[in-house]
Amino acid sequence: MRPGRTIFLLLLIAMIGIQFIEVERTNPPVTDEIKAPNDVMRILRTSCYDCHSNETKWRWYSKVAPISWIIADDVEEGRKHLNFSTFESLDTSVKYKKKDEILEEVQNEEMPLNIYLWMHPTASLELPQKARIEKWVTGKSRMLN
Ligand code: HEC
Repeated sequence: MRPGRTIFLLLLIAMIGIQFIEVERTNPPVTDEIKAPNDVMRILRTSCYDCHSNETKWRWYSKVAPISWIIADDVEEGRKHLNFSTFESLDTSVKYKKKDEILEEVQNEEMPLNIYLWMHPTASLELPQKARIEKWVTGKSRMLN
C-alpha cells in the first residue's frame, strides 16, 4: 500500500474511533430564569443562551468529535461563569456584579465568543443591541449618543 493511503486510513480509523469517546451534552432544568424585558431576552437568547443557559441547542456538529469536545467544554465553562437559567436564584449583589460583567464583555466584544460567531453569524451584536444591553444594565445608554 502507498504511504499516503496508509496515513489516510489510519486517520480515518482514528476519526471513527474518537466518536466513541462520550462527552456530556446535558440540559438541566430551568429553575430561576433571568427576568429581563422582552427585547433584552431576545438578544440574550439569540447570542448567549447556547453557552450560558440550560437550554443549549445541541446541533448536529456538536455530536461530531473533536468539535463536540470544544463545544461541550465551552458550554460547561460558560454555565459555570454565568447561567441565565438559574440567574434569579443569585443574591442581589451578585446579580448586579454579573450584569456589569455582561456589559463589559459585550462592550469589549469578548462575548459572544468568536469561535461561536463563525458558526452563528446572526448572534453577532451590532451597536443597537450593545446599546440596549447598556441601557438594561446601567439605566441609560451613552453608546448611541
Ligand atoms: C460559545 C459559547 C459562548 C457564548 C455564545 C457566549 N459565551 Fe460568555 N462565556 C463563555 C465561556 C466559555 C466563558 C468562560 C471563560 C471565558 O471567560 O472565556 C464565558 C464567560 C462569560 C462571562 C464572564 C463571567 C465571569 O464570571 O467572569 C460573561 C459576563 C459572559 N460570558 C457573557 C456572555 C454574554 C452576555 C453572551 C452573549 C452576548 C455570551 N457570554 C455568549 C462562552 C460563551
